[in-house]
Amino acid sequence: MTAGSPVRWGIIGTANIARAQFLPGLREAGGMAEAVAGRDAARTERYASENGISRAVTGYQALIDDPAIDVLYLALPNSMHAEWTLRALAAGKPVLCEKPLCGTLVDAYRVLDAARDSGVLLWEAFVFPFHPQLERVRKLVADGAIGELMEIKSNFHFQLSSPGNIRYSRELQGGALNDVGCYPIRLAAELFGAAHQAAWAGANWGGEDVDVDTWGVLEYPGGRRLHLSCGMGRSYDTFSTLEGTTGRIHITNPFHPGARDSYQLVAPRSEPVSYPATAGEASFTAAIRHINAVLRGEEEPRLLAVGTALGTARALHDLSESFTARR
Ligand SMILES: NC(=O)c1ccc[n+]([C@@H]2O[C@H](COP(=O)([O-])OP(=O)(O)OC[C@H]3O[C@@H](n4cnc5c(N)ncnc54)[C@H](OP(=O)(O)O)[C@@H]3O)[C@@H](O)[C@H]2O)c1
Repeated sequence: MTAGSPVRWGIIGTANIARAQFLPGLREAGGMAEAVAGRDAARTERYASENGISRAVTGYQALIDDPAIDVLYLALPNSMHAEWTLRALAAGKPVLCEKPLCGTLVDAYRVLDAARDSGVLLWEAFVFPFHPQLERVRKLVADGAIGELMEIKSNFHFQLSSPGNIRYSRELQGGALNDVGCYPIRLAAELFGAAHQAAWAGANWGGEDVDVDTWGVLEYPGGRRLHLSCGMGRSYDTFSTLEGTTGRIHITNPFHPGARDSYQLVAPRSEPVSYPATAGEASFTAAIRHINAVLRGEEEPRLLAVGTALGTARALHDLSESFTARR
């Protein structure tokens, strides 16, 4: 690809997330939605025409092999991430794979080994580390605005009503921890910059035998810790607090900040100071803009899965071992 040429994206799966979040980000970032692949021809045609995607393709492998596609966005159920990412990497196609990269630690090792060995670019679709909000919060912490960061309390809850949803399926590796608990884990990795040393978790069970309401602690060097709470049965809540030795930062939505979100610095004997979270873009825009620029040779790749995803996969594994053992 050359500087300035449009990046041609292919979407694997007629997924809600692609419609609701990825495509608005792609429109803002400036790539092309060249094709979408689904299992059913009629449904895929309908999805393409409703969402402004140029072509519909039947079967995921056909899209991977399509020479008119530069990069793939993979939005399948968690249990299918490994197989289809491995196939894309084998074909030499860069991939933005939905989070979590894989539903199991064993699969995460396989996929990351393949990405490392092949040198093909792979990103896990945590888009918030690309967002300017996290950079500003990170700078506040680095500048000592709250002293030493010791503890993160982070929630991700939402209300899921549709019984057939992939998140309720054990077979498809759903569950609250895999679906949204991964966000606080990645937030802690970004801010503590270290691997966790111990994990403890509990869960309430539901759906088709998955965790639906989950809480846990990850411990990091120096007694630092993440307390996370996530689930699929409460109203939307991503409230997170970074607690330091001399103050704290409250973030209304670290993960998908919108126009009404903010972060607030609170220190003893000072007026709290609030900052708006977002520059007004869709939450996927910054990540897609970066990937487009990398593929056009205009930027060096950042936040690749090979450098970031294993810590999340290990934490998901350890927390789920813990709540399963205590069941
Ligand atoms: N980064 C984020 O902000 C974010 C937000 C939400 C979800 N996600 C992730 O995105 C992925 C998809 O989530 P979603 O809510 O968009 O899912 P979804 O709407 O259910 O879409 C999943 C797609 O996978 C395909 N599929 C293949 N086999 C399937 C099966 N056995 N059952 C159901 N669907 C199957 C279907 O497309 P075809 O039948 O057309 O092939 C379906 O449209 C998940 O990994 C999730 O964790 C990420």
